[in-house]
Amino acid sequence: MNKIVEVLPDKDALIQRSLAIVLDKIQAAIAERGRCTIALAGGGTPRPLYEQLATHDLAWDNIHIFWGDERYVPADHPDSNEGMARHAWLDQVAFPPANLHPMPTANPDPAVSASQHESELQQFFQLQPGEFPRFDIILLGIGDDGHTASLFPHTEALQVRDRLVTVGNKDGQPRITFTAPLINHARTVLFMVAGASKRPALAQIFAPVADDNIYPARLIQPEGELWWLLDQAAGQDLRRS
Ligand code: 6PG
Repeated sequence: MNKIVEVLPDKDALIQRSLAIVLDKIQAAIAERGRCTIALAGGGTPRPLYEQLATHDLAWDNIHIFWGDERYVPADHPDSNEGMARHAWLDQVAFPPANLHPMPTANPDPAVSASQHESELQQFFQLQPGEFPRFDIILLGIGDDGHTASLFPHTEALQVRDRLVTVGNKDGQPRITFTAPLINHARTVLFMVAGASKRPALAQIFAPVADDNIYPARLIQPEGELWWLLDQAAGQDLRRS
């Protein structure tokens, strides 16, 4: 694993730096493999990045969009990660509909949706049983509680080792989420973290010893590159250490 930590002066600088890295990784993936597979983060922090990407003219035919996690709501619901990314970026540019791979949330049973999406990933990446896909880029954030994607503290999803996709649980509300092993097979994982409220969790995530069940973002130790992009408000303690 190659771990890079950068503390940027403010959120705008964080977004610009994220944009530069994502554009670079997209170009490199297409040059090397003819396509780029990128999994998006939800929440509020990445939205300005998506809006910036919408202003770029990229080879949309060669880019495939997935989501690292999803709230169990329809895409037109205000809480939908798919809906947010479509509004900010994907529906603003000429993405072929077949290149968008949202997590299904229609089935009354989230476990069925998780299996459905797992099958879609196995087919798309032409995986053998037990194999994990290698995404080119996986974007992540963290919550004030140290969760990432929809891998929440003290939940069953943290123990899943043999699946690609599983059911997350946020205070009893179902989510669909990539598992930690899938995320750790990525070529590049990019955390974008902004705001002082994230400092206590970051201190534990970066601590030599702490409990992964309490701070699930600690589980993210990818084989490839691990980028932590923090704004000053979030990263000031790390910058001092
Ligand atoms: C989600 C996300 C989640 C998010 C963090 C940070 O669906 O909520 O995928 O893991 O990245 O909660 O959210 P903010 O960027 O809003 O702080």
